[in-house]
Amino acid sequence: MKRKWLLIIAGPAALLAAGSLAASLFLPHPIPRTATPAQRLYLTHCASCHGANGQGSWRATLLLIRPGNLADKRIMDSLSDEYLHSLIKHGGATIGKPGMPAFGFHLSDEQIQDLVRQLRMLGRHLTGSSGSPPRAAGPASGAR
Ligand code: HEC
Repeated sequence: MKRKWLLIIAGPAALLAAGSLAASLFLPHPIPRTATPAQRLYLTHCASCHGANGQGSWRATLLLIRPGNLADKRIMDSLSDEYLHSLIKHGGATIGKPGMPAFGFHLSDEQIQDLVRQLRMLGRHLTGSSGSPPRAAGPASGAR
């Protein structure tokens, strides 16, 4: 008799938890109203894997995707604009980075150029002139 009551309470609670987990996995990243067009592009297309600040999202961690750290200035400085443009347009599959999808069908060349500039901002924002040390880059630190 007691166990029946437990089911009545635990059942809906479990459903609710599963529902909100599914929603946070599949709904797009929320975009602040003040976001610039380039930030908007980044948050819409890239943040689901790379996190809002480029350090990787917990969704990616949950799905065992390792998107690296786009806010690491040392890494990003070693990648040319041409490389980034072609990577975003054609994806990483042909250059041995199969986790990175291609966006050539979704985005125009101008939008991709905006994104490349936006990527450079990610690094600057975190390691910028303020003199503060870069934040520790945990895989889950870019959740929101
Ligand atoms: C489905 C998840 C996913 C999405 C969405 C995604 N990426 Fe990636 N990205 C990855 C993964 C995984 C890697 C690491 C690939 C590897 O090293 O094998 C990566 C790597 C990168 C790299 C580093 C490449 C290098 O050579 O180090 C850049 C830059 C990048 N992504 C930019 C973007 C941009 C810009 C967008 C949005 C237009 C985007 N990504 C969207 C998964 C994703």
